[in-house]
Amino acid sequence: MRRLSWVACLPLSTMLCAGAAYSSTGLAEYEKPWELCGLCHSLDGNSVMPKFPRLAGQPAGYIEKQLTDFSTGTRTNDGGQMSAIVTEVSSANVSAIAQWFSSQPHPPPAKAHEVANSVENSIDPAKGELLFKDAGCDQCHSDSSSVAAESLIPLLHSQHAQYLSKQLSDFRKGDRTHATGLPGADFINSLTQIELDHIVSYLATTHRQ
Ligand code: HEC
Ligand code: HEC
Repeated sequence: MRRLSWVACLPLSTMLCAGAAYSSTGLAEYEKPWELCGLCHSLDGNSVMPKFPRLAGQPAGYIEKQLTDFSTGTRTNDGGQMSAIVTEVSSANVSAIAQWFSSQPHPPPAKAHEVANSVENSIDPAKGELLFKDAGCDQCHSDSSSVAAESLIPLLHSQHAQYLSKQLSDFRKGDRTHATGLPGADFINSLTQIELDHIVSYLATTHRQ
């Protein structure tokens, strides 16, 4: 954890690292295992930078599965950041870390004009909602804030638009695997980029119920 904490701070501003205490070697030390995660995802899981997904309120089961997938190399679309971080996380702490982020207040939705800068095409959240439901995305991705803790399916509402958009494009390029083989999950490949941008705008600007 020590060596990596320091490495993780390198590309970040000193402000982001300011919360950590430093040992005599100059390396960061943390009281709680999720403080390391807070450098990018924020301590309350409501990350500021849109390339870092918001973890607040996600089912603990989903968070744990992603950590496992980064660790085994099943998921590799993180630019190497998560795969490096997980090697420094003790397996004994994984469950507590997932619980911490899962129990934080759900993120607030974005305003439409903020989303407009994150996607290629002009957006229409109302169209996005229809497309999301027509394509059956909502059969798996609930808009309810009270999904089961052990769920392996992420909440998408109020997630950063830029992050969602990147995931959809990674699924299409084959850089990340969606829910392969499950009915409806392959629909992402049959939607146009404009339709996906509408969906992203709907998700990012909508409250979880
Ligand atoms: C140096 C920055 C950084 C740190 C520190 C970091 N992460 Fe991440 N995290 C990322 C990036 C980058 C991604 C993937 C973005 C992508 O897929 O485009 C990510 C993705 C994730 C995801 C997947 C979320 C989703 O919706 O699928 C989870 C879960 C996660 N991180 C948990 C953690 C935990 C827990 C820690 C602390 C042990 C942590 N992260 C520390 C940068 C970081
Ligand atoms: C059969 C269930 C199912 C359906 C239908 C489905 N998904 Fe998913 N989706 C999943 C699962 C499971 C994951 C998590 C995959 C993993 O473990 O990495 C996921 C992940 C995602 C993510 C990444 C979220 C994150 O936090 O990283 C996005 C975005 C997404 N789906 C969008 C969609 C859209 C848009 C549709 C409709 C076209 C759709 N999904 C339909 C099950 C489904």
